[in-house]
Amino acid sequence: MAITTSVRDGVALLKWDNPPVNAIASWLPGGLMQALAAQMNDPTISAIILHGAGRCFSAGADIAGFDSPDTGEAGIRALMQALDSATKPVVAALHGYAFGGGLEIALAAQWRVAAPGTRLGLPEINLGLLPGAGGTQRLPRLVGVAKALDMMTSGKPIDAAAALAAGLVECVAAGDLLDDAVAFARSAHVRRVRDLTAAPDPAALQQARTAASDRKLRAPALNAIIDCVEDATSLPFDEGIGREATRFAALLASDASHGLRHAFFAERAVARVPGLPAADATDIARAAVIGAGTMGSGITIALLEAGIAVTLIEQRPEALAAGAGRVRDTIQSLAKRRRISQPVADARIAALGVSTSLDDVATVDIVIEAVFEDLEIKRAVFAELAAKARPDAILASNTSTLDVDRIADAAAGPERVVGLHFFSPANIMRLLEVVRGARTSPLVLARAMALARRIGKVGVVAGVCDGFIGNRMFEEYLRQAYLLLEEGALPAQVDDAMQAWGFALGPLRVMDLAGQDIGWSIRKRRAIEQPERPYSRLPDQICEQGRFGQKTGAGFYLYPDGRKPLADPEIDALVMEYSATLGLVRRAISDDEITERCALALINEGAKLLGDGIAARPLDIDQVWLHGYGFPAERGGPMFYADQIGLPQVLARLQALSGGREGWAFQPAPLIETLVAEGRNFGSLNS
Ligand code: 3HC
Ligand code: NAI
Repeated sequence: MAITTSVRDGVALLKWDNPPVNAIASWLPGGLMQALAAQMNDPTISAIILHGAGRCFSAGADIAGFDSPDTGEAGIRALMQALDSATKPVVAALHGYAFGGGLEIALAAQWRVAAPGTRLGLPEINLGLLPGAGGTQRLPRLVGVAKALDMMTSGKPIDAAAALAAGLVECVAAGDLLDDAVAFARSAHVRRVRDLTAAPDPAALQQARTAASDRKLRAPALNAIIDCVEDATSLPFDEGIGREATRFAALLASDASHGLRHAFFAERAVARVPGLPAADATDIARAAVIGAGTMGSGITIALLEAGIAVTLIEQRPEALAAGAGRVRDTIQSLAKRRRISQPVADARIAALGVSTSLDDVATVDIVIEAVFEDLEIKRAVFAELAAKARPDAILASNTSTLDVDRIADAAAGPERVVGLHFFSPANIMRLLEVVRGARTSPLVLARAMALARRIGKVGVVAGVCDGFIGNRMFEEYLRQAYLLLEEGALPAQVDDAMQAWGFALGPLRVMDLAGQDIGWSIRKRRAIEQPERPYSRLPDQICEQGRFGQKTGAGFYLYPDGRKPLADPEIDALVMEYSATLGLVRRAISDDEITERCALALINEGAKLLGDGIAARPLDIDQVWLHGYGFPAERGGPMFYADQIGLPQVLARLQALSGGREGWAFQPAPLIETLVAEGRNFGSLNS
């Protein structure tokens, strides 16, 4: 508990300190109210400044406290009332960031002075919430309805300069923040934001409502924000605050907010791998990427963006030129779109070297291999890499299906071999499965996780198996999609149902986007290596027609304009013929059956991965699916979703489905049976 008071030139400075981000812990509002009252009663004090210690003003309400009986925002609201009753000027001095309830405290102060570069935002929507401490009522009064809607529905922060232009802060400090805030406070008068009026803006409200209607599971929170902003223009302030509180409470209790809060904490917890030594990756200065194909060029961009110099090595000169060209074009286009400055783009391009010889790995700190998905080719590459790279260099493979241990076997020093399974496009997708081989050393694994963080990825540790965490589950999910087609559904019905459920893209559309040929070549290899492994031949028939998805203009769908899928009657006919070939009488399939079977397939395979030790914690699986596969964040991830359904119910449905066609696929994972018998859930395995 730390609120300290100091005085400068008759101005009291109240400072709170709650590291690391000054979240508004339960003690903070009460402490601040006491300190405020003392200064109000002190005749030697002319004005008050509120500010935070350390790196920021405040990141907002304590999100961890939302699950306790005292969710904390009542205390924040009492503080707001105390600020509204202040009889002396109160100035918030902002630095670092002022987010959520933190910004709402600043809005309840009368004036705001910000250090240059401060970021101000109301990101509650990212947690399925609305700003619940007066933000929906005060922000429109300061910046107008359109800007307030934009900030609250996007959740995106703005910087101090933009905040000044918008009227959100009254001054950007030119010198020392507190000196400037004191000078500002000494000449300020008492002015309450609640006494300002927000002009109605029906067009902005309508535009926001239209945009919200497309946002699936996020729509209820967005609509609640929009309703509150409308109230700010039409109701007395206190009535607006009352309605905001009611809507906040409803959202706080919603499944969507629970899912998003789980996702927030899991994204941070996933990096803390039990048993690993502390490590960082700041000393990784040079990398080599082997193979300048789709993945090699994407990985190269991701490394260059983090300030790591890369030598791109490829055996075919024409492929090298094409891959390096893709890297340079992507970086240049970011500069053209003003996402980065031209000097930054120039520096990144200058940090790219190209080569056709593996000799050029000699000086690098890490090698990432992205050559053809062929075990013998990869083993040959690793044998050579191990001989040519520094003994302390990390050797990583981007394989998506091969056995990392067999790749490591080929290298002298297998303890430095690790899998780094990027997702396509590798410079965009946030997921990075960090594959721990049987002999990968804990330090190499820890450094690989630190590298993931450094290049802005969510690193998730996975054990060695075919498909690791994500693709092993995806296979079961896809299996259900194909079985549903065989039994009576059509592609668009399956995809539309999964998208309405919240997925960014349905499973068949994902395959069309990724390239049907990739799955086809994996299936062909497995048909030789694992002939007993059952799978639907339907996608093979589509590939046999040369329909590989978006890149060939046709897959499960047609792509007349390149990207937008159009249902194809020929594929519908093929699906129906295929059912007939199997001797199946097609039946009507409901959307509920589609979503239930696809979701249960994910949950059951996820439980098997936990049982096999491939995934260490349910939250690791959840992060894989949120960041690699477009799983709806509002559902928290497949394992969190299972807990929300309730594991006894999950088990009962798996048992029921395991009696149906191809029911073996739903044979319950032993872990689910154990957890149900012990009255536990997946969440109990997260700590
Ligand atoms: N409450 C509780 N803990 C928080 C927190 C918050 N609001 N914000 C961050 N933390 C914790 C993180 O969980 C993490 O804990 P850990 O070290 O134990 O894992 C630690 O603070 C540091 O956070 P990050 O690792 O995320 O640090 P970064 O420097 O990368 O990012 C940040 C800092 C930009 C503030 C980022 O944490 C963030 O965006 N936080 C959430 C901000 C937010 O959503 N605020 C609104 C809260 S809801 C609200 O205010 C309701 C109100 O309207 C009533
Ligand atoms: P690609 O076919 O586009 O590129 C592979 C490149 O490696 C080719 O340019 C080839 O000439 C080059 N190459 C082959 N042998 C080489 C050698 N000995 N030395 C140097 N270069 C060599 O393949 P893609 O799609 O980039 O895949 C690469 C790896 O990434 C594979 O292991 C694949 O399984 C994996 N992967 C692919 C994903 C995808 O969506 N394409 C996703 C995740 C992983």
